[in-house]
Amino acid sequence: MADESLTITDNRTQKTYTVPIEKGTVRAMDLRQIKTGPDDFGLMTYDPAFMNTASCKSAITYLDGDAGILRYRGYPIEQLAENCTFLEVAYLLLHGELPTETELEKWNSEIMYHSLIHENVKSFMGGFHYDAHPMGILMSTVAALATFYPESRNIHDPASRRLQTVRLVGKMPTLAAFAYRHRLGMPYIYPDPDLGYTRNYMNMLWKRTEPKYAANDVLARALEVLFILHADHEQNCSTSTMRAVGSSTADPYATAAAAIAALSGPLHGGANEEVLHMLHLIGEKQNIPAYIQSVKDGKHKLMGFGHRVYKNYDPRARIIKQVASEVFEVTGRNPKIDIALELEKIALSDEYFIKRKLYPNVDFYSGIIYEAMGFNPDQFTVLFGIPRTVGWLAQWQEMLQDPEQKIARPRQVYIGPDSRDFVPMWQRGKTQTVNA
Ligand code: SDX
Repeated sequence: MADESLTITDNRTQKTYTVPIEKGTVRAMDLRQIKTGPDDFGLMTYDPAFMNTASCKSAITYLDGDAGILRYRGYPIEQLAENCTFLEVAYLLLHGELPTETELEKWNSEIMYHSLIHENVKSFMGGFHYDAHPMGILMSTVAALATFYPESRNIHDPASRRLQTVRLVGKMPTLAAFAYRHRLGMPYIYPDPDLGYTRNYMNMLWKRTEPKYAANDVLARALEVLFILHADHEQNCSTSTMRAVGSSTADPYATAAAAIAALSGPLHGGANEEVLHMLHLIGEKQNIPAYIQSVKDGKHKLMGFGHRVYKNYDPRARIIKQVASEVFEVTGRNPKIDIALELEKIALSDEYFIKRKLYPNVDFYSGIIYEAMGFNPDQFTVLFGIPRTVGWLAQWQEMLQDPEQKIARPRQVYIGPDSRDFVPMWQRGKTQTVNA
C-alpha cells in the first residue's frame, strides 16, 4: 500500500515534516506546525476563491468535472431525470435514499400541506414596486419567514430542522408564484395540493378564471426535469454561502435568503437570465462572429459557458437540450435556439474556448426553454432557486451534523500598512503617509 503521506522540507530551516494524505487532500491545519521558530504562527494555505480547497466532506452530490459526471447520492443525474419526480429526488437528497411508494406518498402530502404562506406575507409583498426583480422579492420574503417561525432558531433540534425544511421546500413555489402575480397585478392563486408540486406551481403562476388549472403534460414534465437538474451541485457559490451562514447557527430562513442572494449573481444562478440578454443582443446568426470577437477582446463573457468544475460538457446542459426540443413541439420553436446552437458550434471549434475548456453549462439552454414556456427572463433565476432550496437544505443539515464543522471563519494574508500613529485633523493631507 503506497504511503499516503507528504514529506515536506522547509528550506528555511532544513526541517522535514510528514503530513498524511486523506482522500486526495492534506489538512491545512497540518501545515501550521511548519514554523521558523517558536514565535512563528506557522504556515497557512492561501487559496483566493477556493480554487483548490475542500471545505467539507459531503455524501450528497458527486461531480467529476473532467468526465462530465453528476450523481445525487450515487444515482446518475440522467437516470433520475428520466425516472423520477422532483419531490422524489428532493426526498433522496434530503434523506439519502430513494423513497418507497408509501414514503413518497406521505412526503408529497407533507410538502403540499406546507405550501400555504401566512396571509401577512401578501401585505408586505404588496409593498414592492410592480417591477421589483423577483429575486429581490424572494430573498426578502424568505428571510421574513423566520419572523413567522421563531422556533426555527432551534437549529440543533432535528424535529425543528425537519419542520423548517418541509416548510421551505413547500413554500418556495408559492412565494415565487405570488411574486410573479404581483408583478402582473393579478390576484394570487392559492396552492392546489391535488395538482402536485410542479403542476401546482404552474397553477399558481398561470391560472386565470377556469375552475381548475390543467397544466400541459409536456411542459409540466419539462419543468419537473429542470427542477431535478437544478436541485443540487455540491459546493457551488450559493451552497457554500448556505453552509457558511448556517455555520453561525443562524435560522434556516435567514441562511436560505443568503444563499438566494449568492445565487442571484450573474456569474452564478443569474447567468440564465444573462444568456437571454446576450442572445437578444446578438440578435441574428450573422452577428455571432463579431460577438465572439468581443468575448476574446474581453468586452463580454460568453454567458452560459464555462464552469469551475466541469472542464467538459455539463451533463445537465446535454439533458436540457433534449428537453428543449420536446418543449418546442408544444410552444413552437424559440428562434433564439438557432442562435444558441450556432454560438455553441462556433465556440466549441474555436481555440480560445477549447484552450480554456469552456463548454455550455446548465444555464446556456435553460433560459431559452423558460422563455418559450412563457416566463420573463427575470423569473429564470427564481426557477433555479426553487429546486436548489432542496440542495441548500440538504447541505445545511449535513453541515450541522458534521462533528468537524464549526463557524466558518477563514484567515487572511495582511498586506496593509504597519502600525502607525494617529494623525490629528489639522495635520492630515499635509504629510504623505505611504499606504502599502
Ligand atoms: C452555475 O459552481 C457551480 O456548480 C455553479 C452551478 C450550479 O449548479 O450551482 O453549476 C451553476 O453558476 C453555472 C455557471 C453560470 N455562469 C456563467 O455561465 C457565467 C459565465 N461563466 C464564467 O463567468 C465562468 O466560466 C464561471 C464563473 C462559471 C467559472 O469561472 P472560473 O472557474 O473562476 O473561471 P475563470 O473566470 O478563472 O476563467 C478561466 C479563463 C479566463 O480566461 P484567462 O484569464 O485565462 O484568459 O476562462 C475565461 C476567463 O476569462 N472564461 C471565459 C468564460 N468563463 C471563463 N471567457 C469568456 N466567457 C466565459 N463564460
